[in-house]
Amino acid sequence: MRAIVNTPGGPAPVELRDVPEPVPGPNEALVAVRAFSLNRGELRSFVNNEAGWIPGQDVSGVVLKAASGGLGPPAGTRVVALTDEFGWAEQVAVPTHRIVPLPDNVSFAQAATLPVAGLTALRCVRLGGALIGRRVLITGAAGGVGTLAIQIAARSGAHVTAVVGRPERAAGLTDIGAHDIVRRIEDATGRYSLILESGGGNSLSEAVKHIEANGTVVVYGNSSGEPSTISFQDFRAAQNARIQSFFYFTSGAEEMFAPDLALLVSLIADGGLRPVIGVERNWADLATVAESLRGRQVAGKAVFHTGDP
Ligand SMILES: NC(=O)c1ccc[n+]([C@@H]2O[C@H](COP(=O)([O-])OP(=O)(O)OC[C@H]3O[C@@H](n4cnc5c(N)ncnc54)[C@H](OP(=O)(O)O)[C@@H]3O)[C@@H](O)[C@H]2O)c1
Repeated sequence: MRAIVNTPGGPAPVELRDVPEPVPGPNEALVAVRAFSLNRGELRSFVNNEAGWIPGQDVSGVVLKAASGGLGPPAGTRVVALTDEFGWAEQVAVPTHRIVPLPDNVSFAQAATLPVAGLTALRCVRLGGALIGRRVLITGAAGGVGTLAIQIAARSGAHVTAVVGRPERAAGLTDIGAHDIVRRIEDATGRYSLILESGGGNSLSEAVKHIEANGTVVVYGNSSGEPSTISFQDFRAAQNARIQSFFYFTSGAEEMFAPDLALLVSLIADGGLRPVIGVERNWADLATVAESLRGRQVAGKAVFHTGDP
């Protein structure tokens, strides 16, 4: 089968190559991958993992072979799944408890935006508790997690402020639920009950200065790679606020991935969640699009098709 493999040190960081087909375990279904998405975190794995490794966590497609153990969806079911790796391939073996069936009105491309970014957005928003009437600020708002988090927070009743890096990055964010859009977190006025912070560096330092008493700053990324300065004094005006780290993979019990993914799928199906897909291409273009993502040029998610969309 064809797969995208890691080629560190080569002319491109990854390449489409022929590789052996996966052999599923008894509790794994074999999925024919139709679409997948690229996450910013995966840009780092191109560098950190060995040559020949197959990346890929967010996949959607059709079950080719049901798990021999009898669990999970039957062959022919349209599905979305979260894999740990190996997803950027024509076929991938996925544990049945990580697979969610797709209704006909949810496309493979829409579904492929959900596993890592959607679970991160959903679970980070949940860390704010009941959000009706609360103020929420989201940094990196034009990105993959940000565009989903805006919608989930707005749907939860929050007043949402989005932080974007350039004026053109604001395009479409009001339509998906952002009430205010600012260019720098310093420009946000007032304090927030929940801040989703992924910029790092000064962005995290400023987030602490914008949180309200008892509020929560969720730190789930460090896109800038910069360290932050934070002082106890910053909390004088926001006493008992907390900084909460978030890692999607350990953010809940293993068996909760599928129910949460199913919730996100149902939100798309009922029209309450519209994934922003800024780039949709054949997988042959992955290396080029990866550079656009690294350069903050992709609005929302980058989605790839293994064949015709
Ligand atoms: N902890 C977890 O489990 C988890 C899960 C998923 C993602 N993440 C992390 O969360 C962050 C967001 O993920 P994502 O998939 O939404 O990424 P993304 O689609 O690339 O969006 C990130 C956004 O952050 C903004 N940004 C601000 N400062 C930046 C900087 N110095 N360098 C690059 N981007 C900067 C960019 O928008 P502007 O250009 O408009 O500023 C960019 O669009 C990443 O750091 C990712 O690694 C963590």
